[in-house]
Amino acid sequence: MGTKNQKSIGVFDSGIGGLTVVRALLEKLPNENIVYFGDTARVPYGSKSAQVVREYTQDDTDFLLSKDVKMIVVACNTVSAVALDVVQKRANLPVTGVIIPGAEAAMNSTKNKRIGVIGTAGTVNSNAYAHELKRLNNSVNVFSKACPLFVPLVEEGWLENKATELIVNDYLFPLITEKIDTLILGCTHYPLLKRTISKVTKGAVTLIDSGEAAAATVETMLEKLDLRNTSKEKPNVQFFVSDAPEKFTSVGELFFGKKLGVVRRVVIGKG
Ligand code: DGL
Repeated sequence: MGTKNQKSIGVFDSGIGGLTVVRALLEKLPNENIVYFGDTARVPYGSKSAQVVREYTQDDTDFLLSKDVKMIVVACNTVSAVALDVVQKRANLPVTGVIIPGAEAAMNSTKNKRIGVIGTAGTVNSNAYAHELKRLNNSVNVFSKACPLFVPLVEEGWLENKATELIVNDYLFPLITEKIDTLILGCTHYPLLKRTISKVTKGAVTLIDSGEAAAATVETMLEKLDLRNTSKEKPNVQFFVSDAPEKFTSVGELFFGKKLGVVRRVVIGKG
């Protein structure tokens, strides 16, 4: 392995959704090597208790540490919301989740200080986004809504169907009624629903992609820590999953926007 700067950025998620974050990272930082781990054997995390997500997070972190990464990006909103401290304690490395970057981006965008947050039940119940937004500006009004049907719809590729539009409308109606001007897409899957969400909100609400916001944070962190990879070699992006790779490979292209290449299965935790 080359220098410290040539080491990979480790990214993990509960499954496939974190590929939206890898995509955002590669757009911003095309020279970086990346090791991605998706815990496809235990997905979803969003409907599980914080305690269980925290246990899974230990294994996910240990896997990335075994790959000798230079920093860890927690792509999963649910993990970022309920278990970021688990990663920070285990890894003696720079770590970022998606909540703080997403909250900061929303705060920079809102004009009327009325911000909506959508995510899994785990993320919304944790109140992590609301907490962070209030910490940034105590006078902000936050309206949160769990949208548990979005993850299966996206994984089915139902991005702009009539049924999807109706479901999006039902979930977002209470937030639109509250006159939000900014909406945090607080789940790895939701960027794929941007068009339908924009249609339902009639383009009147700014959508914040927490993965894109996290990619900007990663760039700043690498810069500050002098850890950017300046090598001219073609970067290496490696994908590891905990269940059979086939589904990840086929559905993953939708999230990643292009072919994934080789995806390998690994056994993590107690197996
Ligand atoms: N990756 C999860 C998140 O961003 C969504 C899928 C799941 O529930 O595991 O919260």
